[in-house]
Amino acid sequence: MQSVSGLKTGSILLPFLTVKGGEGLSGHIKVSGAKNSALVLMAASLLTNEILHLRNVPRLTDIEVMSKLLKAMGSDLKKHSDALIIRTNPLKLSSNNLPYELVHALRASFVCIGPLLARLGEVRIPMPGGCKIGSRPIDEHIQGLRALGASVEIQDDHVLAKVTGEQKRLVGARIRFNCKSVGATQTLLMAATLAQGKTILDNAAQEPEIQDLAMMLNNMGAKVRGAGTSQITIEGVQHLGGSIHKVIPDRIEAGTFLIAAAITRSPLTISPVIPKHLEAVTRKLQNSGCLIQYSRESLRIVPRKILKSVDITTHPFPGFPTDLQAPFMALMTTVEGTSKIKETIFENRMQHIYQFQKMGAKISLEGNTASVIGSKSLTSASITGGDLRSCAAMVLASLAADGISIIKGLEHLDRGYENLSLKLNKIGACISRSQSQAQEISNRNTKTLEAKQNIYSETDVA
Ligand code: UD1
Repeated sequence: MQSVSGLKTGSILLPFLTVKGGEGLSGHIKVSGAKNSALVLMAASLLTNEILHLRNVPRLTDIEVMSKLLKAMGSDLKKHSDALIIRTNPLKLSSNNLPYELVHALRASFVCIGPLLARLGEVRIPMPGGCKIGSRPIDEHIQGLRALGASVEIQDDHVLAKVTGEQKRLVGARIRFNCKSVGATQTLLMAATLAQGKTILDNAAQEPEIQDLAMMLNNMGAKVRGAGTSQITIEGVQHLGGSIHKVIPDRIEAGTFLIAAAITRSPLTISPVIPKHLEAVTRKLQNSGCLIQYSRESLRIVPRKILKSVDITTHPFPGFPTDLQAPFMALMTTVEGTSKIKETIFENRMQHIYQFQKMGAKISLEGNTASVIGSKSLTSASITGGDLRSCAAMVLASLAADGISIIKGLEHLDRGYENLSLKLNKIGACISRSQSQAQEISNRNTKTLEAKQNIYSETDVA
């Protein structure tokens, strides 16, 4: 597991990256398994007493947190390299005493409510809380579970859900989501696999991670049709068995690497990927002036020396992913022309602008639309990523900046990027991860540190 190394200052660790900008990249970079898929596949292990053998699981702190949560629910977990072997013990399975801090640290853990309710007929799970990029309500999860026959209440910052009736079994229903929610679709999909009768999910999210989940559930004996479209049909079954499943490649990590190539104007080959998962991103990169070569499991990107601005608006899949909005904005600060970047999924996901401005980027914000005036170069700075994807965007901007930048906020980065600096160094970047300079920084700047301490105690995202 990737260690979150760093200096302990007061009660927080403060590791940081030093990035020397201006180095070209070249060669091949390997994409890890998808964090967002692996987390939910792990939650699906709660649906069976048999062994779930997941392969291609990324080594990330988020996976560590989910592992701890599953253990707290009575599961046995074993790790071998990139494999995770999970067995839920029916005699120990319980949602009592779920550590509040763990559920809060990982919003994705809330999807466990679906399988737990389906198995136990009763769940008590801490509220996932808000987060920096938006309020992130759970109303779609709750309304869906109610439609399947559960009574759901919120008490003392916990969600209490209960299935009444002798059999304590959820009952299939037709559910129309008011908005496309990845998490709510996953919660309801898992819950419905063991419900009595048929469930139809309308306006379902179509993300590849949902297709991955449905594929694994079907291998476990579920009857799911239509995953990947906006209507998913689930015929409930009595029980599910085990499965061996390979997690899909991480399209967000792959997209980050594509943008790393573009921002450094470097040719790069990226694999394994499922090119279809990245179409919205590769199209925008092509419009900006990058040549993209596709093969079955890899993408090669060759950027022109001069790239031009393009506009993006984030949308649910197959639209441009909100998780690559900040990285793409980093790229747009270095191209010719002005680009408009509109965030439509999360209401507060533009905080990276202020960090880019420290690097000399010319960006103005109106509502949730940023106008980015590209320039020839960014200047190095000391910057802090406030959430997972913005932290990755800081790394990308630093690769393109003149001079040496310092990036803090790595506890976010480690949640979702497996060995990012090592992977980038292998293809020519010059990034070091250290602690000693943090001591100097912290000694000089205790006030800033205290402020950061407050920032770090908030819940992170994605
Ligand atoms: C997942 C991803 C995250 C990505 C996001 C959108 C994981 C672990 N995380 O998050 O990386 O940024 O999808 O692609 O897979 N909403 C409601 N009510 C609900 C649920 C959601 O209004 O009950 C809204 C949210 O506030 C947001 C939108 O729906 O505006 C999309 O959220 P959702 O798809 O649920 O995001 P997550 O599943 O939490």
